[in-house]
Amino acid sequence: MAHELRHMLRDDDVNHEEQRQILQLGMKFREDRFYSRPFEGPQAVAVLFDKPSTRTRSSFSIGVAELGGYPLVIDKSGSQLGRGEPVADTSRVLTRMASAIVWRTFGQARVEEMAKYASVPVVNALTDEFHPCQVLADFLTIAQFRGGVDSLPGKTIAYLGDGANNMANSYLLAGATAGMNVRIAGPNGFLPAHDIVEKATAIAKENGGEILVTTDPREAVADADCIFTDTWVSMGEEAEYSIRSKPFWGYQVNDELMKLAKPDALFQHCLPAYRGKEVTASVIDGPQSVVWDEAENRLHAQKALLTWLVAWQREDPSLLGNVE
Ligand code: CP
Ligand code: NVA
Repeated sequence: MAHELRHMLRDDDVNHEEQRQILQLGMKFREDRFYSRPFEGPQAVAVLFDKPSTRTRSSFSIGVAELGGYPLVIDKSGSQLGRGEPVADTSRVLTRMASAIVWRTFGQARVEEMAKYASVPVVNALTDEFHPCQVLADFLTIAQFRGGVDSLPGKTIAYLGDGANNMANSYLLAGATAGMNVRIAGPNGFLPAHDIVEKATAIAKENGGEILVTTDPREAVADADCIFTDTWVSMGEEAEYSIRSKPFWGYQVNDELMKLAKPDALFQHCLPAYRGKEVTASVIDGPQSVVWDEAENRLHAQKALLTWLVAWQREDPSLLGNVE
């Protein structure tokens, strides 16, 4: 482990082995909340929000505290960043005080800019384009229920709904990195961009997985190991609410679609969920749903990610304990 400043801005910032290592560490944090304490001191981690949050806010706040650190949570309304101070200047200031920077914002270019001027790890806590922390937690949930991290390669995951949003992009890149078969189903006009599909396909090829993008929800869920969905109206798209519901009705995850997946298929949703829209109550509140474990796994996965990033920065593999 050479000294290197690593960031997690998009899911393909880590390779197969690195993702596996982070998930293994996540399993350790699941067993022991105090497995590693890289921010003992306490050192501060800046956690910034330009959009609302319940899970990301609580999991990073509690997670940083459990890592021995102090979470400095700043909302858009309470910061100069929210009044237009340049991202570069914000980064130059925070990097002198905090041991890591976590940011939920709009365009991906903003987190890229933050990372450009930072000398500490920067973590994307959701942008319009990607939500890598969520997908680490989602894969940790599959590992939890299906025999560990090494059970991930070869699994088939299907995501239904808005195939052009941050979750779809992250499933494509992270699933390909894990060596999974990733299927995305959405209506025309709401499918992933060509460059993301191309990148995911190239990564999948390296790791033994396959990528399928389709408008047919039944083709996507057939024999799948895990079904995912997400809201049809992401943060920042509220004005489009009325026009965004109609095309998605055929992609609602309901009992009929779940029956086409493997009999023991898991159901996951990053949350917040809208029952009766992208998923029926019978599915999200039913026996195949693992959404509360998934939400809890945000805590373990992000603690693993932060620990892994600072282990690189400090060239200190001892922070990873016996994870190889
Ligand atoms: N899934 C997720 O990121 O939830 P929050 O918006 O509540 O953080
Ligand atoms: N696609 C959703 C995810 C919420 C966690 C959004 O961006 O609002």
